[in-house]
Order: sequence, then structure tokens, then C-alpha cells
Amino acid sequence: MYLGLDLGTSGLKGVVIDANGRVLAQETASLVVDSPNATWSEQDPLSWWQACKDVVGQLHQRLDLSKLKALGLSGQMHGATLLDAQGQVLRPCILWNDGRSQVQCEALMAQFPDGIERAGNLYMPGFTAPKIRWVQENEPEIFAKLTHVLLPKDYLAYRLTGIMSSDCSDAAGTLWLNPETRQWDDDLLAITELTQANMPIIYEGCDLVGTLSETVARDLGLAQLPVVAGAGDNAAGAVGMGVTNPGQGFISLGTSGVYFTVSESHKANPQNTVHAFCHALPNRWHQMGVTLSAANSLAWFAKLMDKSVVELLDALEDSGIKRTNVLFLPYLSGERTPHNDPFANGQFVGLSNTTNVEAMTLAILEGVAFSLLDCQNALVSAGSFVDELSLIGGGARSAMWRQIIANVLNKRLIYRDGGDVGPGLGAARLALLGEQQGQGKDIESLIAEYCTMPDVLEIHEPEASLGSYYRNKYALFQPLYQSTKSLNE
Ligand code: XUL
Repeated sequence: MYLGLDLGTSGLKGVVIDANGRVLAQETASLVVDSPNATWSEQDPLSWWQACKDVVGQLHQRLDLSKLKALGLSGQMHGATLLDAQGQVLRPCILWNDGRSQVQCEALMAQFPDGIERAGNLYMPGFTAPKIRWVQENEPEIFAKLTHVLLPKDYLAYRLTGIMSSDCSDAAGTLWLNPETRQWDDDLLAITELTQANMPIIYEGCDLVGTLSETVARDLGLAQLPVVAGAGDNAAGAVGMGVTNPGQGFISLGTSGVYFTVSESHKANPQNTVHAFCHALPNRWHQMGVTLSAANSLAWFAKLMDKSVVELLDALEDSGIKRTNVLFLPYLSGERTPHNDPFANGQFVGLSNTTNVEAMTLAILEGVAFSLLDCQNALVSAGSFVDELSLIGGGARSAMWRQIIANVLNKRLIYRDGGDVGPGLGAARLALLGEQQGQGKDIESLIAEYCTMPDVLEIHEPEASLGSYYRNKYALFQPLYQSTKSLNE
């Protein structure tokens, strides 16, 4: 058995698979996001550690964890976890959907224009490097004590093993990595006054970084298991869905929405806000378009309506409505692709006295799908094209949402076994690969054997009868950002 721990934004999930890659159990502990200021998004790293202990405790109730052979991690990308020389957390982690460092991004791009070329990505506030510049300028007393910067899942790995490590897929999202060489870049680090001494060691996602420390293993009731480096949640999601080779792709409907495609080399396309990072498996890269508020938009609306997301979706399904005049712009946390604007704001447009909750729910599902179409367009202009896409994440449980996305993207979407499990499945698969690699097996044959596409549960073909409805609505959606962006200025 292998354990994958996925440190998401709304919760930490533990997934156990057997030696054939079959999911045996999954358990989740929820996490809270703090927004002490508009555009800020933070989390307490100590709450991740508590959630990790809770999830392992829950899994003990379900399975005999003495059979585990290795543990892998995946996690929300880009978060800046700042540690002092003793490895103590200096401040709450600044998360991937935090927009406070826009000014720093603009300054960095003006001062170091070749930084974009070296990192292969735009400086966007979600990424790690500009967050450190923000801390330097706004919290100099914290910056003075800063000794190590870790990504969220790497902080968990540090708590588990005592070793500071990262993997190329997650590290690429810091803007300190050269994605071509898959190593830290001294010049990129110097832009934010850091050196390699502040950084963890970089591994491939399936490489072993250490074992559970004796104390942690005892506390968690586990053996001193080998721990693999793991991956950023999107690359881990790809490993879970068998999206490992060029021409393959998937969509993730988690808190964020991600349109992910694999590339055979590092294909930068910063002008279209495409994220061009390393994949979690050797000799592979990927491109992504990212919309910041996917399942989060639905969760936000459910909270406002004092209902659960399931209640909202059930009511919409029961109502039978397939079209609505209501249009929703899902920029509740600003937007990355295609606008790179942390101040972009959400909109409901087209309301009337007869508008009901169901129409607004439908508008949210469509609005997120239109944002994913923006991502698809950005990826196509970056030379990336896929015929069909798998779907993962909590939002992907809704067959209705999957169908809307297939219609809007005009693509075949495939929902596979394990799609709801998300990146935790990939983290567990990476643990399996790492353990087997340790037995001397060749990584490419292991990838071919274990990183296969899970069984198909449902295929969604675009519905031609709704094609013009969605095309007309997308034409109204597109200019809405420009005409309303000044509301938050
Ligand atoms: C990707 C991104 C998000 C987070 C969510 O660039 O910021 O998808 O990884 O966990």
C-alpha cells in the first residue's frame, strides 16, 4: 500500500492505493483560509500539520497502515512558507490566490525584464518570488529572520522527515527555478536577495528524499516510511490521471480551475499568461491556464445562500433549466489567465425580478466554463492542443458541470475512476514509483506500467444544439472584464 497526502486549500486529503494503483481509502481534514485584507489569502502552516495528523488518524480507522511501503506528497502551489534558522514558521503562509504583491510584480518586471525569460513565466502575484519581495518591503523584521522558504507540501515533508526538499514541478512555480535545467537559478534568486542556501534541495517528483523521522513515525503510528518528493497539485493530478505525455491534458475543478497540457520541452508563453512549468516526472514539462476561482465560486455562493454546494446543484438539476440570461464573471479572487489582475472582480449580470437561485447557480457553472475557455484559447495560442481532456477535483463530481464545460470548450471530456480523488492519487502513485525505483526498476517502464489512465466512468461529448447559445454568451462574457475592472480601482 502507498499513501498520498494532498495539501489542498480547503482541506488535506490522504489517499491510500494498493500495489496495483487501486484506491483503497481516502480521508479529508478541512482547512481554513484567512483573508485579513482584501486580496490577501493566508493559512497557518501549523494547521496543515494538525490536518496531516488527523487524516493519518482517520486512515488508521479504515486500514492496516502497517502495510504502507512509501508516502508521497502533493500540494497547493506557490505558497510562501517562511522559516527562521531553527525551522520555525515566521508568519502565516501567503497562498497562491493572494494578490497583495501586484506592485512588486510590476517593479520586478521593470527592473529585471530578463527574469521573465529565465523563469519562462510572467511575474504574477500568485507566484512565490514576488511575495518575498512584498515581505522584504512591508515586513522587514520578518525578512531579516528569513532563512528558508518552503512550498506548502515541502513544509509538510520537512515536518515528516526533518529534510528540506522540493520537486521541479512545484519549484517551477516559485520563479526561482530554471525550468529547462530543472535547477535553482542563482540570478533569479538574487532578484529577491536570496541564494541557494535559502532553498531546499530539488528532486524529481518520484525521487526518495528521506524517511519519516523516528519521532514522527511513532506519533503517527507508522513505520519509518520512505518519503518521495511529490509534486505541485496540478502535476500530481496529471500523474493520477495518466496525463504524462505530450498531447494529453486534463481539467481540474478544485478551488482553482486549471487547464493542463503536457509538453515535450519547456514551452514558455508569458505574453498569454500561460504557466510553463516542469512536470513531476523526468524529461517532461507542462503548460497551464489557471482561473483562480472555480469550485470556490460555487462554495462562495452556497455560503451566501446558506446552502450546501450539493443542495445548490440538486436544485438546479431538478429545475431542468439549461439556459439563463444571467452571466457570471468568476473573478472573486482576481484572475490569472488571461488577465493577470488580482483586482479583477466578480460580476452577476442580467438579473431581473424573476431571477432565481437556480439561474444564478447555472450562471456560475457557465462562468467558470467560460474562464476555462479563456485558458484553452491562451494555450492554443501557445501552441498547445489536445483532442480530449480528463477531469478531476471536487467540482468534477457534478455531471452537469462536466457537460457544460464540454459544451463550452467544444471538446470531449472524460470522467475517470479516481477523478474525484484528485492530486492525492498522483501523490500516492509517485510514492509507488519512488519505492519501485528504489528496487532498481527503470523509471520509464514504471511510468508506462503505473501511470495509466484510470477506467472511463463517463464520456461527455459537446451538445451541438447548445453551441450557438454558448458562443453568444461567451461573446458577452469576454468584454465584461474590461468594462467592469475599474470598480475595484
Ligand atoms: C496553480 C495554482 C493553483 C493551486 C491550487 O498555478 O495556483 O492551481 O496550485 O492548489
